[in-house]
Amino acid sequence: MADQINFIEDFEKLAKRKMSPYNWGYYAAGAVGEDTVRENCEAFRRWRFRPKLLRNVSKVDISTTVLGSKIPFPICIGPVAYHGLASIEGEVATAKAAESLGVGMGMSIYSHRTMEEVAQEAPNCIRWCHIQVVENRNMMKHYVRRAEKAGFSGFIATIDQAVFGKRHHTTDDGETYEFSYQEPRNIAESIKHWKPNMNTVEAFLSYTNGSSEWESIDWLKSITNLPVLVKGILTEEMASEALEHNVDGILVSNHGGRQLGGTFSTIDSLPEVVKTVNGRCDVYFDGGIRKGTDIAKAIALGAKAVFIGRPVLWGLACGGENGARKVLEILRDEFTLAMQLLGVKTLQELQTTPNLVVHETRILSKF
Ligand code: FNR
Repeated sequence: MADQINFIEDFEKLAKRKMSPYNWGYYAAGAVGEDTVRENCEAFRRWRFRPKLLRNVSKVDISTTVLGSKIPFPICIGPVAYHGLASIEGEVATAKAAESLGVGMGMSIYSHRTMEEVAQEAPNCIRWCHIQVVENRNMMKHYVRRAEKAGFSGFIATIDQAVFGKRHHTTDDGETYEFSYQEPRNIAESIKHWKPNMNTVEAFLSYTNGSSEWESIDWLKSITNLPVLVKGILTEEMASEALEHNVDGILVSNHGGRQLGGTFSTIDSLPEVVKTVNGRCDVYFDGGIRKGTDIAKAIALGAKAVFIGRPVLWGLACGGENGARKVLEILRDEFTLAMQLLGVKTLQELQTTPNLVVHETRILSKF
C-alpha cells in the first residue's frame, strides 16, 4: 500500500483513516489553538524561489554530514515520541528505514522501544540519542552511558521543554482531545535502575519541573565526548548563548508547535540564527517540512540538513518500515528535483548562490 503512495499529503490522509482518533490526535496536536503547528507549514509559502536557469544540472550531489556522520542526502528523522502508536515495531521500524537509506535518526527519550533494542535491530543506522537533562543526574548519567554503549553517535539535547506544554487537538468534527502521558520505555530503563519501584510516568513528569538551566548542557558536555546538538533555538539571543556553551550544533526548532504557542515559524526564525552563528557551529532545522521545496528553502537559508517529524509517523502508520522509508524517498526525490529546477548542483551552491530564496515581502515591496 505505502509503495503506491507518491505524495506526503496522501500519507497524512491515509494515516488519519488508519489510526484511532486519540493516537492520530496525539501526533497532530499542538500548543493550545494549534496555530503554531499551522504557522510552521504556512510560513514556507512566503519564502519564494528566484531560480538561476540554463545550468547543467544533469547530475546533482546532495550528500552531506550531520554531527560528523556522512549521509547521502540532507534529510534525517527527528526525535519524536511514541512511534508505537503508529506501528507495532515502533522505533525499530523507523530505524530500519533510516538504516536502509543511510540517513540518521534522533531517538526520543520517550520512545516505546529502548535504545538497546534499536541498536540491536538496526545496528548500522546512524543514531543520535535525544536527551532532556533533568535534575536527577545519577539517572541521567546512566542514560548517557547506555547511549554510548549502544553505539549512538551524539546527543540531541532538547531545551524547549522545561515543563511539558499543554497540547490539544481538535478533530474535523469538532471534538477536542487533551493528552496524557504514556510510559516512556526508553528512559524508564534508567529510572528503574535508579529507583526500581518508582512509577516511571510520574517520575519523568516530576523531573520535568522547569529547573534546568544552561548548566545542564555544560554538565552533559563534561560527562561525554560525543557531540551535543542543542534543539529548540529560535532567536539570535539563544543562538549566542548556545555558542557560549560550546555546543556542537544548533537545531532550529519550536518542537513542531507543541510547546510554546505563538513563536515565529521555524523557517522565519532560521535566518537570524544562521546570521548569528556565522559558521561557528552547524545549524540544522525542523518544523513543518512537508515537501522537497520546503527542504530546499531551509538549506538555502543556511541549514546543513533537516529533520522530519510528523510525516515519518504518517509513513509508519501506513506501512511500518516501508512507509517510513517511502516518506523519506519522496522527500529526497522532490528535493533533488527542486535543486535541478533551481539550477544548482550541490548543497554548497544552494546555500551560496545569492538571493535564490527570498522572503516575498522583499520582492513585493520593490514593485
Ligand atoms: C515531537 N517532537 C519532539 N521533540 C523532542 O525534542 N523530543 C520528543 O520526544 C518529541 N516528541 C514529539 C512527538 C510528536 C508526536 C511530535 C509531532 C513531535 C518534536 C519533533 O522533534 C520536531 O521538532 C517536530 O516534529 C517538527 O515539526 P513537524 O515537522 O513534525 O511539524
